[in-house]
Amino acid sequence: MKRFRRLRRTPQLRALVRETHINISSLIYPIFVEEGTKERKPVESMPGIYRYPTELLPLLIQEAAEAGIGGVLLFGIPAHKDAVGSSAYDDNGITQQAIRLIKEKYPELTVIADVCLCEYTDHGHCGVVHDGEIVNDETLPLLAKTAVSFAKAGADIIAPSDMMDGRVAAIRSALDEAGFADIPIMSYSAKYASGYYSPFRDAADSAPCFGDRRSYQMDPANGREALREIEDDISEGADIVMVKPALAYLDIISRARESFDLPLAAYNVSGEYSMVKAAAQNGWIDEKRIVLENLTAIARAGADIIITYHALDAAKWLKEEQP
Ligand code: PBG
Ligand code: ZN
Repeated sequence: MKRFRRLRRTPQLRALVRETHINISSLIYPIFVEEGTKERKPVESMPGIYRYPTELLPLLIQEAAEAGIGGVLLFGIPAHKDAVGSSAYDDNGITQQAIRLIKEKYPELTVIADVCLCEYTDHGHCGVVHDGEIVNDETLPLLAKTAVSFAKAGADIIAPSDMMDGRVAAIRSALDEAGFADIPIMSYSAKYASGYYSPFRDAADSAPCFGDRRSYQMDPANGREALREIEDDISEGADIVMVKPALAYLDIISRARESFDLPLAAYNVSGEYSMVKAAAQNGWIDEKRIVLENLTAIARAGADIIITYHALDAAKWLKEEQP
């Protein structure tokens, strides 16, 4: 008889043969910075997550730096929104201010800047709108300007999340021309039009005011297309590619891992976080156990980097387990 249980007998034996480990240094913590407020405001649909004014950002950043995580992913919420998202590429915009502040106080903490227009446009779409259509090519120069402005402010990695075609190439050449040839791009390559983003749109105040994002984000039914999206982003110059969301798309993560050698990121998105928090608050699940199980599953599927709102808690729990 096969005796699989021999190696499950003690915690030490189980640790000895464990195949997957979550690296604290590979966890990325998303943060929301809001312009024009003095208080941190709780995001109702995401217990434990707040929008921070720049004044209170240092406290949170210190926590992130001390946790030893791989970095933070920054989202700015501007006071002024318009049709073309001007605040995104204003060198004095909220995101640029936050990047400068973090890099001044914690220069060693990696700051990833999310590049998209939806937090900055009054219509809430990720690109420029003409006659109810989200137009691709007119959006590209605005994304490129935003990326350069974030790099000037000191961002370590540029992360376009808009899903316009050709944006990685546009951003790469703009960065190179502006003297930022050394700044890498982490592309949201396979980003699905997902219902799991709704708590984020509360947090970032970025819900589209008409229609939805299905004309630019991917159809959840398509797997092979994700590989084509990733391949194209790599050919345009992406340094890190991403699958998003994570838990309902573990098959995509696994296929991407098998097909490509680049560092692969997975975004454990807001809805995935909120569902865990809600069930935990009801006493229906053990939060720590579920979070570590979810993150292990994402790593086992093949993600090198995990972007997660659980990052600070997970870092704490992982340290407790392996002091
Ligand atoms: C902006 C952006 C979104 C997320 C990251 N960047 C929202 C969207 O595309 O609607 C989602 C993150 C999350 O749900 O945690 N383009
Ligand atoms: Zn967007």
